[in-house]
Amino acid sequence: MQIAMIQDKIVPASELEPVYFDRGTFFGDGVYEVMRSYNGRIFALEEHLQRFAGSLSGVKITGVDIDLVRSRILRAFDAARIGDAKIYFHVTRGSQPRDRVWNADLQPNFFLTVSELADNTENKTKGIAVSTHPDWRWKRCDIKSLNLLANVLAATDAAGKGCGEAILVDEHGLITEGAGSAFFAVLGQTLQTAPLTANILPSITREYAIKAGSNIGLEIVEKSLTVEQAAGSDELLIASTTQDIVGVVRFDGKTIGDGKPGKYTRLLTQEFLSFTVSTPR
Ligand code: PDD
Repeated sequence: MQIAMIQDKIVPASELEPVYFDRGTFFGDGVYEVMRSYNGRIFALEEHLQRFAGSLSGVKITGVDIDLVRSRILRAFDAARIGDAKIYFHVTRGSQPRDRVWNADLQPNFFLTVSELADNTENKTKGIAVSTHPDWRWKRCDIKSLNLLANVLAATDAAGKGCGEAILVDEHGLITEGAGSAFFAVLGQTLQTAPLTANILPSITREYAIKAGSNIGLEIVEKSLTVEQAAGSDELLIASTTQDIVGVVRFDGKTIGDGKPGKYTRLLTQEFLSFTVSTPR
């Protein structure tokens, strides 16, 4: 008989729920999405589902019906009755005894939560401090994989320094993105952010921030920033589903602009929020 131990308790492995053998736990072998609603309407649902399908195929997880995922999201969201909700879900490859090579006949596991979105008004009003951290992630950051250990270490390092986000820097000294956000700089009349390569997540908020930037007359430059360029920018900001747009007012201890979210950050936020009221669910 195979024995397992959970905390202090010995149990026959055969009696365990399959979820204890989830490849997501053993290997981070799964992909996820985070979306949100504004005032009872899910924002950019189809874009998130499309990215999710891309993540699934990127890690060769098959047999997931995206229409079924959509209907589960809508059902759970309706049941939760939360106006400003954060919807998290993941699919892992399935459960099996630990082996790097997966069994061909696995059934993917699905997990979803709907929760009240944390209020970030204070961050938006005052702006946040960020600190840099080496980008220790793998080479397919375009896949929204459950493997987030490098992000977790970077974000916790930043939090320990009193910062709201870690900004990841690659081996060439170039900024890729935040540990959980896209990263932008405003220099004069340009809005600059890293180009979409395998090194960063194709952030949905990034796309909308770029659209907002061109709507307000900024020139968009998709080119990686060095740490020095970022530190010398007029404005810095991060963008993510859960935070939308938040100004960065300190970068590795250096004050950006006058230490408050800048003029363009405020305009971008306004323009971005206009998309969230006009987008159909
Ligand atoms: N993360 N880059 C990384 C590494 C991220 O984890 C995220 C979002 C983003 C922004 O992507 P989007 O605009 O599509 O949310 C960029 C989510 C919110 C999370 O992991 O909780």
